[in-house]
Amino acid sequence: MRRAIYPGSFDPVTNGHLDIIERGCKLFDEIIIAILINPEKRPFFTIEDRREILEEVLLGINRSTCTLRVDAFEGLLVHYAVAQKADAIVRGIRAISDYEYELQMALMNRRLEPSIETVFMMPAEKYSYVSSRLVKEVFQLGGRLSGLVPPLVEERMKQKMENG
Ligand SMILES: Nc1ncnc2c1ncn2[C@@H]1O[C@H](COP(=O)(O)OP(=O)(O)O)[C@@H](O)[C@H]1O
Ligand SMILES: [Mg+2]
Repeated sequence: MRRAIYPGSFDPVTNGHLDIIERGCKLFDEIIIAILINPEKRPFFTIEDRREILEEVLLGINRSTCTLRVDAFEGLLVHYAVAQKADAIVRGIRAISDYEYELQMALMNRRLEPSIETVFMMPAEKYSYVSSRLVKEVFQLGGRLSGLVPPLVEERMKQKMENG
């Protein structure tokens, strides 16, 4: 039984994230998609919104025998990973620009908790330029998001803009 944590902000979840989760499902029996609670960031979606959206879009994923769970956590990722009895942390690498930061985090996490491995996965090329930050920018400027995020995410973003 191999369990991985896929941590992130998921604000909002993009097709790039889903691509990584689908690939991760080929390697792990269970993946916990763990939303980082970061009091310092001003997010677009609340943790509860993000959890709800993730749970819904994950229903559409090609997961074979892999179990997917959504959770939220605060504090050190490695403490959370140990508490969840995880074997690995999954992170996505889009380009060289992600690598430096991700390497630093992976090595720090290894120092803090040598029993947990970090696994880097590459998304399909078509998602290699997709980030939650850019999705929010394009959305706020009125651009089309189809193909970049699940339709539910675009709907929920529109609702949020209308209802404040
Ligand atoms: N389009 C994408 N393709 C592959 N990996 C991605 C993509 N977007 C984000 N990721 C990866 O998913 C993880 C979570 O990303 P994100 O939600 O932005 O949270 P964080 O705040 O930790 O960067 C990170 O490892 C990030 O590099
Ligand atoms: Mg990011």
